[in-house]
Amino acid sequence: MKTTISNVKAYEGKEVTIGVWLANKRSSGKIAFLQLRDGTGFMQAVVAKNDVTEEVFNVAKNMTQESSFYITGTIVEDKRSPLGYEMHATNIEMIHEAHDYPITPKEHGTEFLMDHRHLWLRSKKQHAIMKVRNEIIRSTFQFFNDNGYVKIDPPILTGSSAEGTTELFHTEYFGEEAYLSQSGQLYMEAAAMALGKVFSFGPTFRAEKSKTRRHLIEFWMIEPEMAFVDHDESLDIQEAYISFVVESVLKNCQLELKTLERDIEKLENVKAPFPRISYDDAITLLKEKGFDDIEWGEDFGAPHETAIAEEFDKPVFIVNYPAHIKAFYMKPVPGRPEVVLCADLIAPEGYGEIIGGSQRIDDLELMQQRYEEHGLTGDAYQWYLDLQKYGNVPHSGFGLGLERTVAWICGVEHVRETIPFPRLLNRLYP
Ligand code: 4AD
Ligand code: MG
Repeated sequence: MKTTISNVKAYEGKEVTIGVWLANKRSSGKIAFLQLRDGTGFMQAVVAKNDVTEEVFNVAKNMTQESSFYITGTIVEDKRSPLGYEMHATNIEMIHEAHDYPITPKEHGTEFLMDHRHLWLRSKKQHAIMKVRNEIIRSTFQFFNDNGYVKIDPPILTGSSAEGTTELFHTEYFGEEAYLSQSGQLYMEAAAMALGKVFSFGPTFRAEKSKTRRHLIEFWMIEPEMAFVDHDESLDIQEAYISFVVESVLKNCQLELKTLERDIEKLENVKAPFPRISYDDAITLLKEKGFDDIEWGEDFGAPHETAIAEEFDKPVFIVNYPAHIKAFYMKPVPGRPEVVLCADLIAPEGYGEIIGGSQRIDDLELMQQRYEEHGLTGDAYQWYLDLQKYGNVPHSGFGLGLERTVAWICGVEHVRETIPFPRLLNRLYP
């Protein structure tokens, strides 16, 4: 019977065949312990000299790392292994013998591993991170589908920018200037006026010269947009969404979280409601905590966000930032036009901002004024003004950065390990 490591539980006491690679190996005179991986998981096979032919035993003993083969044997319970099962092998059929696999069980430097990312993905830790990433994606689709949202795909090649023009990737579009999308938001607003509640999930691009543990050049963003929803209601949706995703990972990725040595208790705490503090109060808090350099009106850097997050054991919303440090489309707080109806959601444990969201301007004149202030002239933005002209309604939305969320939930230090092939300031390879 052909099966996979993920399914061995159903075959306890039975003989099965699995297509595998050799991750690692230990052997002594009469026995070889093969650490197998098959894509679905990791499992140990015990090859005992007495159980197999001499030829098979020699193959097992001399097997090289990352060689591929079919292995046949009986599945037995093994309480000591994370999987709970191992295989007692009866036969091995070689597929391909690998030589000099560059990533050996010894320690390697980060740059070396990044240069071999196409192979590094095979390692146990990277495998676990990709599985958690997949669960976050799966539960995201489930959450928005279950709550009546329609998936909309905004364009990637665009003629306009949503988040300011300094971080755009330029390209040529048949003689016209074009950009790679840094956010699908403006298009999602149009879609919300057509379909009510919508969400997007796609790659976005920022030509940011930032070389930090939180910045990628190409990252994936989930952008929900909701008609007839105000900013407070949007925060309720955000915390319900994050709680659902964390709960799904806790439930469906137990083995992976164990592999990652993630502190589960910290994640179990992540249940709505999340604390909400104003930008004004955050400034006061920072001053109390000894940040003398920060003044009202300045944007927060990573150390500020980390210091604020330290005060809470859940993600925290910082609401109502000064208008001039945020994007042009955010609606001012009624009676206090210097701040806007927006929030950044700051993850615990120093992972920083994982969501940026706001209520959008719903007033033609104010939007035209913002266009002038931000120099948004030309044809590229004319269509967006139409949303103000024809049946404008209160509406809100937000964008969640997938990789920062994966980094936080997995407890990995740097976003470069949270995407299969990261695009970084100094890296387009592999
Ligand atoms: O805060 P940002 O720039 O918001 C927007 O783009 C809005 N248009 C979203 C919306 O309201 N529809 O980006 C949203 C999130 C951030 O909170 C962060 O998690 C992630 O995207 N992000 C990045 N992730 C990795 N690398 C980068 N360079 C990122 N820039 C933003
Ligand atoms: Mg932001």
